[in-house]
Amino acid sequence: MPRPFRCLLTAGPTREHLDPVRFLSNGSSGKMGYALAAAAAARGWHVDLVSGPVVLAAPEGVSVHRVVSAADMLAACEPLFPSCDLFIAVAAVADYRPTSISAQKEKKTGGPLTLELVPTVDILRTLAARKQPHQTVVGFAAETHDVEAYARLKLASKKLDWIVGNDVSRPEVGMNADDNAVFVLSAAGELQKFGPAKKTEVARFILDQIAPVRAGPA
Ligand code: CTP
Repeated sequence: MPRPFRCLLTAGPTREHLDPVRFLSNGSSGKMGYALAAAAAARGWHVDLVSGPVVLAAPEGVSVHRVVSAADMLAACEPLFPSCDLFIAVAAVADYRPTSISAQKEKKTGGPLTLELVPTVDILRTLAARKQPHQTVVGFAAETHDVEAYARLKLASKKLDWIVGNDVSRPEVGMNADDNAVFVLSAAGELQKFGPAKKTEVARFILDQIAPVRAGPA
């Protein structure tokens, strides 16, 4: 029997703790990544979903690996990446982390507080640099302005095969919405638009664009 097509995804936000109870994060719901994982599993693929903290249940047939920080997310992806055929980075990774994490809850002083932050690891850039010829690597560009221009820059600079752009300044298709409106842009320059539509439909559209030969059950 041929080995199943393997898809690895990241989804949801990540959290960078300041102390045991406080963290830096963002409003990602994980809905787009979970919808993509469900659509990939529905095609008969083996699906690993590395997920930041979300309230969503694991989609049927998907192996979910739960993580908190960007470093955890990369550590969970690293052993899964070499054997995946398709990697889709949907996660809204927190871009900065505090230089240190307090072991105990910080007490307020009443005065102003300055946080020193350092960049987190770029999971997509790190893994895309290890891409083998049989692998396809896809990123997302969630932007509030100049969406297409930023998407083109990210596609080239992170050495991706495809990028999915979406305008998160529009609440009806933004980070927490059930709907999304996207464009899918290839390294070869093909651009297709879709939506607004339910994230489940957007997920099927994205897979049809990036993996059309595998659109049926394996
Ligand atoms: N990404 C990642 N690791 C990071 C930051 C981003 O894997 N530390 C991935 C996201 O999952 C997404 C793509 O890179 O697929 C673009 O993420 P985005 O947050 O839009 O862009 P950044 O590269 O973080 O740049 P900026 O925040 O300046 O727009």
